[in-house]
Amino acid sequence: MTDRNVSAEKPEKRSAGIAAARLVRSGMVVGLGTGSTVAYTIKELGRQVREEGLNILGVVTSYQSEMLAIESGIPLTTLAQHQELDLAIDGADQVDVKMYAIKGGGAAHTREKIVSVSAKHFVVVADDSKMSKELDREVPVEVLPFAKELVVKKIRELGGKPELRMASRKDGPVITDNGNFVLDVAFGVIEDPAALSLQLSAIPGVVEHGIFSNVDEVYIGKTDGSVEIIKK
Ligand code: 5RP
Repeated sequence: MTDRNVSAEKPEKRSAGIAAARLVRSGMVVGLGTGSTVAYTIKELGRQVREEGLNILGVVTSYQSEMLAIESGIPLTTLAQHQELDLAIDGADQVDVKMYAIKGGGAAHTREKIVSVSAKHFVVVADDSKMSKELDREVPVEVLPFAKELVVKKIRELGGKPELRMASRKDGPVITDNGNFVLDVAFGVIEDPAALSLQLSAIPGVVEHGIFSNVDEVYIGKTDGSVEIIKK
């Protein structure tokens, strides 16, 4: 997992991340997302496991969240052992008023989508800056390296401007936890996220894109320390 949004410490992220941990009850199997906001949720759940006897199993979405969950003391399981999760909690790069989200700033959106769609309830934790009337951020698209040129061509035909995500000029492209590349695609304002989502999924070689349509609830951390909860 390589995070292009190396975000500074933000108390808003902390309050959103910790507030969402209150949704977790003993006995649950919980999807653990990736990024700096949900890291607060993972650390808080770990504290409750260690200090309060919270009895949960986590399913991770990246090597980053796996390392943090292990370090925090959360016992882990897999989708092979638990196909249906009670809850998944994760961050987002942008959320619109209809609760469509763009994810993948940390290049983990493929596993994040699989885990969140496996959950009965999907909660996003985010600071206020992520909320937007419409989606207009670049959409991360994980692609098979073998298919990069074809995917670039097809995305251009859809009106997108794809850029290969680079780790650095010296290190070359970002490689996902699944061994693939990521294209960051500018579409301007995305008028119809559901339609774009179908068009991107139909391109051969696209492993997964970062438009999420399955968010049930958003915990929004505000600068005044409060957390607003919006539900679908
Ligand atoms: C990783 C993600 C992250 O959840 C998203 O980038 C938000 O990260 P952060 O909470 O650090 O702002 O989608 O692929």
